[in-house]
This record gives sequence, C-alpha cells and structure tokens, in this order.
Amino acid sequence: MKFTFYGHACFLIDTGKEKLLFDPFLTGNGSAAISADEVECDYILLSHAHGDHLGDAAPIAKRTGAAVIAVPEVLGLVSDAASRTFPLNLGGGTTLPFGRVTMVPALHSSGVPGGVACGFLIQFTDGVNVYYSGDTALFSDMALIGKKAPIHYAVLPIGDDYTMGPEDAVEAARLTGAKRVIPIHYNTWPIIAQDPEKFAALAEEAGVAAHVLAPGESLELKK
Ligand code: NI
Ligand code: MN
Repeated sequence: MKFTFYGHACFLIDTGKEKLLFDPFLTGNGSAAISADEVECDYILLSHAHGDHLGDAAPIAKRTGAAVIAVPEVLGLVSDAASRTFPLNLGGGTTLPFGRVTMVPALHSSGVPGGVACGFLIQFTDGVNVYYSGDTALFSDMALIGKKAPIHYAVLPIGDDYTMGPEDAVEAARLTGAKRVIPIHYNTWPIIAQDPEKFAALAEEAGVAAHVLAPGESLELKK
C-alpha cells in the first residue's frame, strides 16, 4: 500500500486495487506534484469545502468516475459532476471494498452553509489504519479516535494560522496514540511557512516517528 503526497493537503493512498484521493487542490496550488487532468483515482475523500481542499474534485470526479465521500452539503457542490457519492456525517462510517471509512470530527469551518469540517479514519482491509484529521484545531476527543483503532499513520496539518501548528500537531499525534505522523498543510504560502524537520524532531521527542514527504514523494505504508 502506497501513500503519495501531492502537495498541501492532497495525497493518494493506493491499495494496489483502489486509489483513494484526498482533498484534491491541484489547480492553483504552486506545490502540486500532479495536475488535475492526470491524477487517477477510484474514490475522492473531501474533508471540507474550502478551496484548498475541495479544489478540483468536480472535474476529477467527472473525468475518472470516482466516487466522492463527504458530508451531504459538500457533496451538493460536486453532485453535477460525480456519478457516485457516499454521504457520511460525523461519527458515521461505511464499509467499502478497500476497508472501512469513518467520518470523524474536526474543529474548523466547513466552507459551505450547513456543512461541517471533518476528518477520516480509514481501516484498510489489510490491517493498516490511517487517520487524516483534515484542517483542525487540537481537541482532546482525538484520543477517542485512537481508542477505536490503533493508528499506524496520522496525517496532520502543521501550518498554523488556518489549522493547528507544529506543537499542537505533535500533541494530536500523541493523543491518538499514532505510531507515525505525516505532516501536511504547510509551506504552500508564506502564511503557513513551517520547518517540517523541526516538527519531525518534536514528534520523535514525543515518541512518534515522523515521515516528511516533499510533494511527489511516496511512502510504503505498513502496520
Ligand atoms: Ni480549511
Ligand atoms: Mn486548508
């Protein structure tokens, strides 16, 4: 199973059978490692409707036929383009061929009236569990996500300003009991400039292994 970082908050998890694309903001993203008309996927998971997450979801869904997973209000923004959708809401989950997706809370604005921002816990059939927090503040109930399943990888924003910064992201990783952390949502613009190696050192100090990926880099996921 392979994780590829495409820049900002966009990444792909390829199980070998299915490709899951998260928050596909590629057009207008100076750090994007792939273009919206090249990326391949079977599922698109959207954490919320801010432009740096919803991004190119509609044209990608239209071209690839990928199913879109999001809260109903966000799905409403892509419904003309997406032929398959899976509406979820906080606390709910669905079992799909690659594993189980649970929508988990995030503390952030949604970017669409009536919507909420969310994160995802994905329990892959092969036993690897990934927690993607979406844009969020640190909150103590993140511990409940780690109680539900052992977290092998936490994918967390570290940019500060719009989301939690590096110190809170380390605490988030620690709260969920994550074995490893992958930092995202930084250095796309000067306002979210961060030193990921400094974050990695803080995480390692807290007992969490950090994987810093440059846009375009991949990582083989394991338990
Ligand atoms: Ni946002
Ligand atoms: Mn964002």
